[in-house]
Amino acid sequence: LSPTELKMLDAHEFATEFYHHLLVNTEDGEQALQYLMERGFTRELIDTHKIGWALPKWDALATLLERKGFMLEDMATCGLIIHKEIDDSYFDRFRGRIMFPIRDENGKVIAFSGRILNSDADEAKYLNSPESPIFHKSQVLYNLDKARASIRKTRKAVLMEGFIDVLAANRAGVHNAVATMGTSLTPQHVQKLKRLVEQITICYDGDNAGFEAAKRAAEMLQAERLKIEVAVLPDKLDPDDYIHRYGAESFTNQILEKPFAYIAFMMMHARRGKNFQFENDTFQYIHEVLGHLVGKTSPIERDLYINQLAKETNITKEAIEAEYRKFEGEQV
Ligand code: UTP
Ligand code: MN
Ligand code: MN
Ligand code: MN
Ligand code: MN
Repeated sequence: LSPTELKMLDAHEFATEFYHHLLVNTEDGEQALQYLMERGFTRELIDTHKIGWALPKWDALATLLERKGFMLEDMATCGLIIHKEIDDSYFDRFRGRIMFPIRDENGKVIAFSGRILNSDADEAKYLNSPESPIFHKSQVLYNLDKARASIRKTRKAVLMEGFIDVLAANRAGVHNAVATMGTSLTPQHVQKLKRLVEQITICYDGDNAGFEAAKRAAEMLQAERLKIEVAVLPDKLDPDDYIHRYGAESFTNQILEKPFAYIAFMMMHARRGKNFQFENDTFQYIHEVLGHLVGKTSPIERDLYINQLAKETNITKEAIEAEYRKFEGEQV
């Protein structure tokens, strides 16, 4: 790290303490603290992750950073403040938001995500730090620093869509969860996970976007020979919603511990919107599933899924097996 980057890390550490202090010790933070409590955050969780509050003011942090002797130009480069050309002044990027520090895998704060209190407002629900010399969004897995030990112990990582979901999972006793920072999974994320663990449980939001994102993530991870299972949430709920509604125990026992195997999830995905009264849907479905089976499954798994295909579509098992062999021949 360059001296400038070290200064940027210092400033993030300083800002983390500042925002956290405002949330937990001052009247200005009361409403935000109340909001977090209503969402089920405990004081312990807030302290461990150093969650904070950014005042709805234009220059609270900028003024402090200047007084502390930080170079404001560098502070703008790492996204804590924004440069205003017109009068060459600086103002705070995060104002009136609940501040979630984002740490690298060594536990150093490298960015923030700020949530507005009122989701109906015009602004984006979450505002993230921009790409900077210390924050590369496509590489960061939220909570990896804290989750590492649990991932090693359980030999499994749980991958989520939202960092709020990771925090809810923490509260529910699940400590091996990580999340991307609002981007889809990248090859860099995959490599990071691969160095740590062999098995990943994907647990994305239970809406359509989450379902599609889970499919893409599963394919990427599977292609890197990681063992994948997909925990699917009902009724458009995300992990945080689910834990709220049904509790921690149900989340662990009914969702995380009852995932779909990779192929079973792919079958479910392929089945969506298809009607096996129509031969086109039937052929498409069988071909899509056979495509997933070729080269990725053991003879026993193959038998299991081909049986299921036969049952679902009313095509004989023999015919599907013949089709499978044809498929296999074409793929090699
Ligand atoms: P979601 O829209 O699912 O948010 O976005 P959430 O995690 O359920 O948050 P709550 O419960 O409403 O507070 C998932 C992720 O997408 C990114 C964030 O990283 C978020 O964790 N995101 C979402 C943004 O970056 N900006 C946004 O405006 C919204
Ligand atoms: Mn860098
Ligand atoms: Mn979502
Ligand atoms: Mn969500
Ligand atoms: Mn949510």
